[in-house]
Amino acid sequence: MIAIEASVLSADFLRLGEQAREAEAAGVDGIQVDVMDGRFVPNITFGQGIVRALRGAVHGVLDVHLMIVEPELCLKEFAEAGADRIFVHQEACKHPHRVLQSIREFGVEAGITINPGTPLSVLEELFDVTDIIQVMTVKPGYGGQAFIQSQLDKMRRLKEMLEQGGFEIPIAVDGGIDTNTAPLAVSAGATVLIAGSSIYNDRAPVDQNVAALRESVEI
Ligand code: DX5
Repeated sequence: MIAIEASVLSADFLRLGEQAREAEAAGVDGIQVDVMDGRFVPNITFGQGIVRALRGAVHGVLDVHLMIVEPELCLKEFAEAGADRIFVHQEACKHPHRVLQSIREFGVEAGITINPGTPLSVLEELFDVTDIIQVMTVKPGYGGQAFIQSQLDKMRRLKEMLEQGGFEIPIAVDGGIDTNTAPLAVSAGATVLIAGSSIYNDRAPVDQNVAALRESVEI
């Protein structure tokens, strides 16, 4: 089953709870909250307070994508705010193995994310402490960017690596996901699709956008 998550980075910030509920009512499997600190990425977005508020608004998976330096310093707060899953960037962690273990110790799913320029080899020693791997298909920091096609081959190689190692770890894809790129990402091995501007835009209402995305990946 392909899971679709709405990234509220592209939602109307004045109606964040409503927009998250709209996506959930339209059938997304989860909501992703992109936490940015202005240092790991140039943008500054949400903190624990927004995660806690959204926890009260949605029932599905609440996924926190930390694009911050030293994520180990605030894992507890995001876990207590109601995150079901926390992604940290491999590029931001001095000790990724320890950080992923800590996330699990808070009873939350541990996810590792790699940027487009980061090779798969950095993941090899982390499979035993990782519940999900997120491949960035845009440079992190903003919604509405173009999908980086070269990451499709990277996802195919990652899927092979996991299969050869006997690991059943889902691959999530984040950035530039729409009705054209979603089927490509699925055929490359992704089973969790994070979408922002293809769900939240003024071209069509949220429910129509989610339905179109879902249809594009239906086999
Ligand atoms: C970018 C974020 C993405 C972004 C996706 O750094 O991690 O989740 O919001 O937005 P779209 O789907 O518009 O690329």
